[in-house]
Amino acid sequence: MIEDDISAVLQIEHQSFISPWSERTFCEGISGKYPHAHFLVGKHQGNPISYINFMVVDGDCHITNLAVSPDFRRLGVAKYMLAKSLDQMKILGGRKVFLEVRASNIAAQKLYREFGFRINNIRKKYYSDNGEDAYILWIRDIQEISLKYARKKSQG
Ligand SMILES: CC(C)(COP(=O)(O)OP(=O)(O)OC[C@H]1O[C@@H](n2cnc3c(N)ncnc32)[C@H](O)[C@@H]1OP(=O)(O)O)[C@@H](O)C(=O)NCCC(=O)NCCS
Repeated sequence: MIEDDISAVLQIEHQSFISPWSERTFCEGISGKYPHAHFLVGKHQGNPISYINFMVVDGDCHITNLAVSPDFRRLGVAKYMLAKSLDQMKILGGRKVFLEVRASNIAAQKLYREFGFRINNIRKKYYSDNGEDAYILWIRDIQEISLKYARKKSQG
């Protein structure tokens, strides 16, 4: 992600979340201030249609944000972004991968499940905007999922 992508990314962010990240959060994220933070963008005809953010610190990976433009959903874009990111995490020596997902977000849960994420914990009333629970999903060791992931890639 570069500065020129941010206005399109913000539009997707606002279309995707009830409590969207601010412009400042994205700008700081790509500024180089946080060397463990990775901000990737997926483009169609040069325009951002998707993005994913994750951190890798001492083998622990945390996926902090993922969204696809409503115009490009159900086309495998999120699968592609997630697969690329998991590859990158592996290269960076990642092992555990964590993320939080809203209990009501069935689409995202199905996506993550396909990649082998399972529930590690439930945080009651985690989201302050509506009091919703968060599922903490994880992959115990990303270095061990190469075969499963290779199969996903060849399917799609
Ligand atoms: C969740 C999200 C990222 C999925 O993006 P996408 O590009 O449409 O997903 P894909 O096309 O790669 O779909 C991958 C799988 O996810 C699941 N999935 C995606 N959208 C779904 C939906 N609306 N209903 C049910 N399952 C869905 C399916 O298992 C799908 O596989 P399939 O198409 O083979 O059935 C997208 O809907 C989005 O941006 N939502 C708003 C933001 C968000 O919730 N981000 C995740 C925060 S944790």
